[in-house]
Amino acid sequence: MLSDKMQAALNDQINMELRAYYTYLSMSAYFQDSGLPGFAAWMFHHAEEEMTHAMKLYDYIHVRRGKVKLQAIPEPPHTWDSPLAAFEDAFEHERKVSISIDKLVSLAREEGDHATNSFLQWFVDEQVEEEEVVSNAIDKLKLVGDFGPGLYMLDKEMAADAAAGEGETEAEA
Ligand code: FEO
Repeated sequence: MLSDKMQAALNDQINMELRAYYTYLSMSAYFQDSGLPGFAAWMFHHAEEEMTHAMKLYDYIHVRRGKVKLQAIPEPPHTWDSPLAAFEDAFEHERKVSISIDKLVSLAREEGDHATNSFLQWFVDEQVEEEEVVSNAIDKLKLVGDFGPGLYMLDKEMAADAAAGEGETEAEA
């Protein structure tokens, strides 16, 4: 049985994961409109991962006989100044998610809720990898800069990564 506080915090986390899904889906549309289908595919794949994160929490609340309470998802941005700006935004989002997961773990420990603490460890590991894959993309985009042919090549690489499920963490593979 989840405490009211733990249940509310897990529901808030579902909302955060769904916001990430929505934001990355919007980024995918932005890349598609920008003539970068590889980046679009990569971001679409990443958005789908966020949905699986939300559903893991959704299922867990039910397993613990709690109540899922879905909340409103704000409208995401529709455009970014550049592919790099979009990925930097994604990285900021991942940092916020990591901090939020850390707070959830602290709450579970404070409450002596060992089951939730154990459940959340998957998310702790996942966030390390999520931050890594996004920051790797940022590094590559910084290397390429405004060089069009470089961006074209990188788009091909992102398409191959998306097709191979890269960005998918070990836990998800
Ligand atoms: Fe589910 Fe990328 O945080």
